[in-house]
Amino acid sequence: MKTKMAHRLSARQALPAISGESQRLPQPAQSDWEAWIAYFQHNAAHLMEIGWQDNYELTSDERRMISASVQQFQLGESSEGKHVLSLARRYVVSRGDENYLSALKSFIREEQRHSQYLARFMETQNISLTHSDAIDSIFRCLRHIFNLELSIMAMLTAEIIAMPYYQALHEATYSPLLRQICRQLLRDEVRHLQFQVDTLYMLRQNRSFIVTGITHACHHILLTGTVLVVWHQHKSVLAAGGYSFAAFWRETWRHFHRLFGQSNGARSA
Ligand SMILES: [Fe+2]
Ligand SMILES: [Fe+2]
Repeated sequence: MKTKMAHRLSARQALPAISGESQRLPQPAQSDWEAWIAYFQHNAAHLMEIGWQDNYELTSDERRMISASVQQFQLGESSEGKHVLSLARRYVVSRGDENYLSALKSFIREEQRHSQYLARFMETQNISLTHSDAIDSIFRCLRHIFNLELSIMAMLTAEIIAMPYYQALHEATYSPLLRQICRQLLRDEVRHLQFQVDTLYMLRQNRSFIVTGITHACHHILLTGTVLVVWHQHKSVLAAGGYSFAAFWRETWRHFHRLFGQSNGARSA
């Protein structure tokens, strides 16, 4: 029991660092896509050390708690982003900055790396990959019917959820490998939040206040629904990581409000 408490304490102490908010990495300016490309290149060249040779075996309790949940997140991270790339290509041709497309490709590569990390971890623990999941299918379907802005909003919603989720997963397991992976993912995800907000800032320039306000209200609804569904589906990991539903709710909205401030989403934080 004492060991478990000590483990929880050390994990909590590590959280400010793994949240990435205090990492001294390049800080791209808003909608400065060249700076984002440079950031993604820098990040890819300075990844955290991951001890893949770790021989820790998940306990049966851990396995029961995280297997299905990690399967879903691994699948969610695996998108090739074909649809959003084709929407972005159209946007760039009509009026955008070519560099945005390159930055978006780099961002998608990072998400695929997340998927590969989780898949590699699952392989070490004999957890099979899944190829379909209801929530993932809904998100993919939404991204397919949405325009670029709505697709980015759906992706940003997933990024916001990923923050408390990977923090919870980090605390819910004794696996050194999985904890290292969570730390790297959190360090990346915190930048992804700003990347997506910068994209929305670009897309909402010269937009009427009312239209942006309505879109932002839709984002509230999307995040509310997602928080409810994700809590229902991943409660075991979130609770083991120290989140009550109220804490999970507060944490997701804290990220949302930090990113958008009190604005209606027309200006990023
Ligand atoms: Fe990710
Ligand atoms: Fe992400």
